[in-house]
Amino acid sequence: MSSPQPLARCFGVFGDPIGHSRSPVMHAAAFAALGLPHCYLPFHVSSGSLGEAVRGAAALGLGGVNLTVPHKQAALELCDRRSDTVQRVGAVNTLCFVQDAATGATQIHGHNTDARGFLDALDELPGASLRHATILGAGGASVAIADALLGAFADVELTWVSRAPERIVLPRDAEARARVRPLSWEQLGAPTGELLINTTIVGLAGGPRAFPVALELGKLEAGARVVDIVYPRPAGGLLERAAAAGFAVQDGLPMLLWQGVRALELWLDLALPDHAIERMRGALGLAATP
Ligand code: ATR
Repeated sequence: MSSPQPLARCFGVFGDPIGHSRSPVMHAAAFAALGLPHCYLPFHVSSGSLGEAVRGAAALGLGGVNLTVPHKQAALELCDRRSDTVQRVGAVNTLCFVQDAATGATQIHGHNTDARGFLDALDELPGASLRHATILGAGGASVAIADALLGAFADVELTWVSRAPERIVLPRDAEARARVRPLSWEQLGAPTGELLINTTIVGLAGGPRAFPVALELGKLEAGARVVDIVYPRPAGGLLERAAAAGFAVQDGLPMLLWQGVRALELWLDLALPDHAIERMRGALGLAATP
């Protein structure tokens, strides 16, 4: 006898703008691979409506929600519980709606899968072993990436570049903080080390075309990796130059994939099988795992 079909559930992503999001197609591919009847929809939610939208999603019994620009920080105060990563980086990208066994009330749990997703994506990019990384930009995404790197690589040192280095959100932990050097673009000179990560909006459609100073790549170590978390990869930008100089490069799609994998694992309470991850990869237009 075949097992009964699970109940269809709705998931989604809240953002403003949201039309460009590749998350719906990626999650639809995962549900199809898993034989689940669920759906994942993009919801245009403006800043002023986030509270209503989140509480509405909880009341309607949505399976889970992702948050993107501009909601990742604002959602903090809506969460009944925040994961350790969320508490450290101050940003939420995944909400789980959890029924309290005692009261039956729905609790909102906030997670951040961007940090882990960045590390998973970096694992796919071969390169020299990591001792020193440079992060460009100090927005919300950069805080999650810095937290991930400092936690995963006990000896790594970070140079962190911003137009306003005094505003960089340094780790609260003293040991981690001692491994971070905040710099202005003018102080940076040329980036050194084995990993360069662009988290700025430079190169994004409609964003600034050039970094505040010309970025010379010649001082990076041989075998260095260059990552631009913007997707799709802007033509003629940093990654094209880095690839031409012989460095291993990656745009933001692998990070998008892996933060999505980790969000699904939280919502479905399972380890996603390889074939489902491959279907998500295909839906994003990424090459299959070699
Ligand atoms: P997110 O939270 O997703 O990282 P954000 O807060 O909108 O995005 O931040 C945009 C990023 O682009 C920041 O890293 C910002 O860096 P700093 O404010 O720390 O300098 C960066 N950014 C925006 N305009 C920039 C510009 N003209 N040159 C360099 N970086 C810029």
